Amino acid sequence: MISVTGKKIEKYKGDLLVYCAMERKEKIPFCDERIKSLIKPACKSGDFNAKTGETLLLHTALLGHSQRKGIAAARVLIVGIGKQKQSVDEIREQLRCAGGTVASSATQSKVREVLVVLPDLAGISAADCAEAMSEGLLLGNYSFTKYKKQKENGATPVHSFLLTGSGAPSSLRRGMKAGRIAAEAACKARDMANEPGNVWTPEKFVQYARTISRKYQLKCRVINKPTMKKLGMGGILAVNQGSAIPPKLVILEHISNKKNPTLMLVGKGLTFDSGGISIKPAAGMEAMKYDMCGGAAAITAMQAVGEEQPQHVNVIALIPATDNMSGGAALKPGDIITHFNGKTSEVINTDAEGRLILADALAYGIKTYKPDAVVDLATLTGAVITGLGHHKTGLLANNDVLVKRIVSAGERTGEPFWRLPLGPEYSKQIESKVADIKNVGGRAAGTITAAAYLQEFVGETPWAHCDIAGTAWDFTEKSYVPKGPSGIATRSLISLIRNWKPLKK
Ligand code: BES
Ligand code: MN
Ligand code: ZN
Repeated sequence: MISVTGKKIEKYKGDLLVYCAMERKEKIPFCDERIKSLIKPACKSGDFNAKTGETLLLHTALLGHSQRKGIAAARVLIVGIGKQKQSVDEIREQLRCAGGTVASSATQSKVREVLVVLPDLAGISAADCAEAMSEGLLLGNYSFTKYKKQKENGATPVHSFLLTGSGAPSSLRRGMKAGRIAAEAACKARDMANEPGNVWTPEKFVQYARTISRKYQLKCRVINKPTMKKLGMGGILAVNQGSAIPPKLVILEHISNKKNPTLMLVGKGLTFDSGGISIKPAAGMEAMKYDMCGGAAAITAMQAVGEEQPQHVNVIALIPATDNMSGGAALKPGDIITHFNGKTSEVINTDAEGRLILADALAYGIKTYKPDAVVDLATLTGAVITGLGHHKTGLLANNDVLVKRIVSAGERTGEPFWRLPLGPEYSKQIESKVADIKNVGGRAAGTITAAAYLQEFVGETPWAHCDIAGTAWDFTEKSYVPKGPSGIATRSLISLIRNWKPLKK
């Protein structure tokens, strides 16, 4: 829970009052006048320099009479935000990190409620400041303890965050709401990913889509196996062949106005990837329950769309969902399948399954909705981890304007993207002797040949593919990103949608 309060800081009698402090070269950190004298001794001794992630916790009861003046809270926490930053995007990240640090410090202190005083920083508006801080607080406060009977050392997440600051309350409220919506969506994506493969089945994507469609007036459609057969979605059906659980194609629609531009999202909802007959090694295979993170990003971005009901854009999300198993009827290496658009594909490796389910969803979605632009999200290749590590999402696209927008959205949200090339040289690697294409292109350029496969299904439609295999979990260590699933791409998508305008070619 998070809210803006009009309450006077000196009247706040809660457990924890938080201020930010900015690091300065050979000087006392920059901070609110009210706490200058409080932090001075710790700064002079070098105990506190206001570096990123540094904290100073003071118990009011231990302060002298004059220092205690104007503080009614039981404790004061001062959070370092590091050096002064130039760009607004860097300041946003600085504030998200501060929020994450506050959440974990408060959890450690077993504090239920926190009042955060937003800092007055040059180069960022009050609304943006409230937005970034709210994101950091809520993302940093995340935990997944559903399956733990014994909660660790009684530490529970913070129940409620209060925000105050010198900006107009209406601006703070507006910023906070934007931050809350994005953070809640990303936390929901983390929840979905944390659920094990025996719980988070394709049916769960259906249920969640139905829930948000009712709550927020989105249109929900579900394509079941019999209809997939009629439509000829040979990719999704092939991947599902070895499974005991039926596949689903989940579709959510937000149509604000038929004349508006339409953005289409497609997310890989592979609820467990065993590799199929081309089975994966046992070590680490449990992480393949996270292979649905692209689907989670798309559906949770729609949750935010539902809540915000943007009137400048139509947004459609498609989530092809199945697991990839090796049952008796499973797809085999050498099998030839036919995709929704009629293209045939020779399956060399059943572990390259993501592209098979995405191909049908892309072709079907583009034919049905004629979107102005398409963005897909998928934990598609291990190769992207080799190339970019766990720090940046791989981005491949047929449209430079779309790339610019996604890169900017990533900069605003602290979710970096890095473009990789496409081209006929790479497409040649997936030529097959017996079918139109084959599903792997050899060891070289694995991330690019996977995208080249998808490219066969988007035609001329402006399209971008985000390979989140390196960032969907084990993402760069940050105070507001827990170990495990990161909820990556949800906030970038939300930012992309909020700033959407027609694509001029
Ligand atoms: N879901 C995996 C990709 C993956 C691997 C994500 C490791 C995160 C961590 C995908 O379905 C896959 O198995 N890709 C293969 C493709 C290969 C067979 C061409 C891969 O990357 O090894
Ligand atoms: Mn696979
Ligand atoms: Zn996979």
